[in-house]
Amino acid sequence: MTPEDKYHVFERNLALEMARVTEASALAAAMHLGRGDERAAARAASRAMRTALNGVGITGRVIFGDHDPGLDEEDDDGGLGDGVSVGTQDGPEVEVAAHPLEGATICATGMPNSLSLLAMAESGGFIDMPPDLYMEKIAVGPRVPDGVLSLEQTPAENVQALARLRQADPSDLVVCILDRPRNENLIGAVRTAGARIQLIQDGDVSGIMATTDPRSGVDMLMGSGGAREGVLSAAALACMGGWMQGRLIVRSEADRAALRATDFGDPDRILALPDMVKGDVMFAATGVTDGAILRGVRVWPGGASTHSMVARSTSGTVRRIESRHDLRRKAALARSTAGAE
Ligand code: FBP
Repeated sequence: MTPEDKYHVFERNLALEMARVTEASALAAAMHLGRGDERAAARAASRAMRTALNGVGITGRVIFGDHDPGLDEEDDDGGLGDGVSVGTQDGPEVEVAAHPLEGATICATGMPNSLSLLAMAESGGFIDMPPDLYMEKIAVGPRVPDGVLSLEQTPAENVQALARLRQADPSDLVVCILDRPRNENLIGAVRTAGARIQLIQDGDVSGIMATTDPRSGVDMLMGSGGAREGVLSAAALACMGGWMQGRLIVRSEADRAALRATDFGDPDRILALPDMVKGDVMFAATGVTDGAILRGVRVWPGGASTHSMVARSTSGTVRRIESRHDLRRKAALARSTAGAE
């Protein structure tokens, strides 16, 4: 077996392990559902993800993890900050991009579309993206060839181009947009172009994932959201199939300084999906609250269920996993494992 073959066997198994990791963080976050404390939810997800990741046979380095400015240093203890080493440290080297709780506010208010997200790639697989930047995004699911859509076109041109490709009327299309004042002009332009809109309060990764599934009712995502969420979305689309472009929105000298500290290059350039994620990428997500393509965690006395998906860019296979968890046995197992150490 060549080293490449060995890596692919490892990668196949690792992808399934990743779903166990996002299940753990989603379960931890879901215990804070609707309790109004987004920091507690984010912290719980982050700690659970790190603990679960440390049981996985990788020599992992977190390229980007928790970046919520609301999480102070004390909160970060045991969390998944940038640069943290994860895994058993005796397996292959992988880079980890994680958002243990995408949509902390959604979880804290019991609204739809919060997810636990994890992506992994070989070294150099993810673009180096500083935290707290915004990105202008346009994303669609599979079967949209290059050259149809572009951030260089107006929103109306993009709506019309997708409608033409689908042999549809603009009014047949639904565009998902984050409901933010900075997206107001875009919302107006998409309405004028005749498309329908799904405004979301948070969670544009979920919005982008929704474009891959015709049953979701979402055809395209447009607008400005988190830049790191853009890279995680690119990882999702590289595995699930889809097309995306992103362009950073540089708002301040602090943004420019953060970019200078990386080897990002020209911040104004348009990033295609392969500029954001390269090589063999693995992606896993578990629903925390109900979303367009994943159900949220359900809890009952002593147990819970989770709904996850896991995919690899190499094969393009997307697996959906429904798990039933016996939380009492899990807790007993964790206690006995800790006692044995
Ligand atoms: P968090 O989980 O970090 O809160 O992200 C939620 C989210 O809605 C993302 O989906 C989105 O990309 C970003 O926040 C938008 O940022 P902002 O809330 O600052 O507009």
